[in-house]
Amino acid sequence: MDSNKPFSKVSVILFLVIFCDKVCSYDTSRVKKHGDNAHEKFYDINSLLDSWQEACQSESGGIVSVPDGTFQLDPIEFEGPCKNQVTFQLDGTLQAPTGIINGDDWIKFHNIDGLIIQGSGTLDGQGASAWQDKCPSCPPLTTSLTLSSVTNAQVTGITSLNSKGYHIKVNKGGGTTIEHVTITAPEDSPNTDGIHTSEANNINILNSDIGTGDDCISIGEGTQNINITGINCGPGHGISIGSIGKNADDGSVSGVHVMSCTMTSTENGVRIKTWTSDCSATVSDVTFHDITIDQASNPIIIDQQYCGGSHEYPSHVQVSDVKFINVHGISKSEVAINLQCSSTMPCQGIELDTIDLSLDGGEQTTASCSNVNATYDGSQNPPPCSNSLYHRHL
Ligand SMILES: *[C@@H]1O[C@H](CO)[C@@H](O)[C@H](O)[C@H]1NC(C)=O
Ligand SMILES: *[C@@H]1O[C@H](CO)[C@@H](O)[C@H](O)[C@H]1NC(C)=O
Repeated sequence: MDSNKPFSKVSVILFLVIFCDKVCSYDTSRVKKHGDNAHEKFYDINSLLDSWQEACQSESGGIVSVPDGTFQLDPIEFEGPCKNQVTFQLDGTLQAPTGIINGDDWIKFHNIDGLIIQGSGTLDGQGASAWQDKCPSCPPLTTSLTLSSVTNAQVTGITSLNSKGYHIKVNKGGGTTIEHVTITAPEDSPNTDGIHTSEANNINILNSDIGTGDDCISIGEGTQNINITGINCGPGHGISIGSIGKNADDGSVSGVHVMSCTMTSTENGVRIKTWTSDCSATVSDVTFHDITIDQASNPIIIDQQYCGGSHEYPSHVQVSDVKFINVHGISKSEVAINLQCSSTMPCQGIELDTIDLSLDGGEQTTASCSNVNATYDGSQNPPPCSNSLYHRHL
């Protein structure tokens, strides 16, 4: 399978036709109803896992289907390897158990090559029942949908609602396309990142609406080659690379291309954040292109003093070759461009090309820089930092 190409519609439809018999008979027989209330349905984990096994062992590929309706589902892990591509067809709503639950993941796919998750259904993490009990310094709560060591996956159409922690996590593996998804949680929900990637490569995140309580998309350590295009983000903390360097062995991030995205009422627009630590990972070859800012507090920000406490101890993560091209719109704060780089590893090859960021009333914004080696091209609003280490206006 070509990891960069979405699966063709025709093959998916053929697939559905061929396997319809199996799917249709499965739907009703495997759903257990408890009590008199017809809305109170529970998925019997074992029968869902049986269905997964059947689909996973099918030589010609199989389908697991969640029909219309609302079903409660305990944490579950769909394990590969599978004999061929497997489709998880989500038409109904799956609800996580209420409150804080044990484990990092609610619905986890692991060790699979060739996975389609599609449908108009919803994963409801029931986060509101858990957020209030989360201690602020504890790690994020349970992720709703995890793809771990999954290659050649396509996630399309589904909605993730009120995850307890991250909505979608892609860890290891690659060749992943996430497209036309809707991600929703309140602005004040803790660590509900929309999509988080780590140690994964060749990822496309396209044409999706993400509004949540933390980063709409966070590009974590070890992410290589990721295209993010056509994202409407807000509320949320924007599209972020990082935080990188919390652990000494964090992997480098390179090949990040963020294009045609809109940030509406977000905390940040586009951000790179690294910890003050000895970690020697790098962040390089990053482009933010055609970004519309509709009220963000920090439209363009590099923060290499993240969570460190002591500013005397610098980040050792080298940030280089980062282009901001055609970033325009309304900044909520006067400092529209804030580039705070490491004193030991100044940012190299930062390029600002055609920037237009004003305050709501049209007033002038400013730029603040430290330890930045920057190049400017095209019109600049705010005006370039006066204290760049090196400063060339093309
Ligand atoms: C990202 O986009 C570029 C340019 O369109 C393309 O060459 C590259 O293959 C894409 N990367 C992935 C992971 O699909
Ligand atoms: C800034 O970048 C230029 C061009 O790449 C390079 O020649 C110069 O050494 C850099 N200066 C500093 C202080 O890093």
